[in-house]
Amino acid sequence: MKKISIILAAAALLGACAQPKPQAFSVIPQPAEVTINDGVYCVKGAAVHFEDDLDEASMAAVLRFIDALETATGVQCKWEEGGFNFEADEALAPEAYTIEIDKSGVEVKAADLNGFVYACETLKQMLPAAIYGGKKAKADWVLPYASIQDQPRFAYRGMHLDPCRHFWTIEETKRYLDVMTAYKLNRFHWHLTEDQGWRMEVKKYPKLTEIGAWRDGTVIKKDWNSNDGIRYGGFYTQDEMKEIVAYAAARGITVIPEIDLPGHMVAALAAYPELGCTGGPYEVWTRWGVSEHILCAGNEQIYTFLEDVFTELMDIFPSEYIHIGGDECFPEDKALPWDNCPKCAALMKKLGIKKGPEAKHYLQNYVTARVQAFLNEHGRKIIGWDEILEGELAPGATVMSWRGTRGGIKAAAKGFDVVMTPTDYAYFDYYQSYERDKEPFGIGGYLPLEKVYSYEPLDGMTPGSEDHILGVQANLWTEYIATPEHLEYMLLPRMCALAETQWCAADAKDYDRFVTSLDHTFEILDAMGVKYCLDYRGLIGLDRQPARASVAMAEYMATKEWHW
Ligand code: ACM
Ligand code: ZN
Repeated sequence: MKKISIILAAAALLGACAQPKPQAFSVIPQPAEVTINDGVYCVKGAAVHFEDDLDEASMAAVLRFIDALETATGVQCKWEEGGFNFEADEALAPEAYTIEIDKSGVEVKAADLNGFVYACETLKQMLPAAIYGGKKAKADWVLPYASIQDQPRFAYRGMHLDPCRHFWTIEETKRYLDVMTAYKLNRFHWHLTEDQGWRMEVKKYPKLTEIGAWRDGTVIKKDWNSNDGIRYGGFYTQDEMKEIVAYAAARGITVIPEIDLPGHMVAALAAYPELGCTGGPYEVWTRWGVSEHILCAGNEQIYTFLEDVFTELMDIFPSEYIHIGGDECFPEDKALPWDNCPKCAALMKKLGIKKGPEAKHYLQNYVTARVQAFLNEHGRKIIGWDEILEGELAPGATVMSWRGTRGGIKAAAKGFDVVMTPTDYAYFDYYQSYERDKEPFGIGGYLPLEKVYSYEPLDGMTPGSEDHILGVQANLWTEYIATPEHLEYMLLPRMCALAETQWCAADAKDYDRFVTSLDHTFEILDAMGVKYCLDYRGLIGLDRQPARASVAMAEYMATKEWHW
């Protein structure tokens, strides 16, 4: 077990900082090994020095930290030795870092950009929250003497965003990335295409955004068959997406773009109806749910279309992993166009796929494998939602387990790499409170903070398959989330709980310690101007109405198996 010892610091009288008190140590996610010693180091106007071996990206990350420090303290740092010292140390693991703070200064070491980003984020969280505020603030600008060695448990620490059901501007997306950075997440899963809107500019297929990016209305509450009649949409130009890729990369975050196929394609079909089995006409969907209208697997044109789209996509997104969707292709309550399409029938015959309830899965496997082969030829790997596991998935795919944990457990046992993102623990579109009437209207479900925190990604894994679990991700679908305030309210503080599951050793997690640390996180989020939910403290909704009788809450909680 990793050693965690925290000795409470005593305030020390030092230089320009009169009787300064350090911020109580409340870094989220909790670093692996922390020792806090007596004494504080004053950072106001401190000296800053880079060792020669620091690469440019790491220097830029450190400079962002120094900029924030200078702005918040109102005092310029001096470029000389004897204060902060940043040094590359190749002996450290990827993403790991060490921090030593004593009277001689702050010694930071890391082997790579991510390590330096995380060291700076840890230092920021150890300082007064005003460092996040972008303006000068009076505070005790000191760090406690400390020794920190830190590295993550999982290499894949993801957060997803759906800009299709509701659209998020480039600035709003950057802010989302800022929050991810603060809690050391490193994968941004950008779900760029949907039935209700295609968001990626594709130069070869301009109608995808001329037609596919716009819908004629949005569902109001639970009446999925009617809508507000207001035209809604938007898309990202290729330059804008490159801007997001660069912004994320500078913060150690890889953007994993998703083109969801062969289902969730109604917006693309509205633009290019010849890609569907029936030929349409189709309209960009104004309702939620699962459409039976998907790409026609038997039409060779769809493979040309997908290869063209992925060719442009690979030019924008350097990520090794490309998400190819694969979820919800076959609604159970509707006749499937694949079952009545001569082109699909001819392909099934050619492939020797026998008729029957499983046939559709094998046909989906064929579509997945064609796209996978194309992307592999270009040095990329596919990730898909766990439906791609049905039938016969080709080796080399990574499975994202969302329909509970079963798909992930099965995939790992079969030797596929897996990212765990089960609805029960990782769907941040679910309500956070048991008093839904006080929360902003949502899609349903119930996922309070404590349950997010309770998730153990290796539970139930077949012995020997654990190494296939690359990591954990949470998803934020936005059917009913239309404003940045609501988006942030759904994200936080649940994403902080997720961050501890992604980063901390299982035996280092401690809900009471985590909740105590949230006090400081809320100061940080306030300084950033980011909204969050306080339901776990009995304040519900964006307007923080008091919970009803706590007895009722206690009774309700007692019915929940997951409760600690
Ligand atoms: C999903 O939630 N349809 C992956
Ligand atoms: Zn067809």
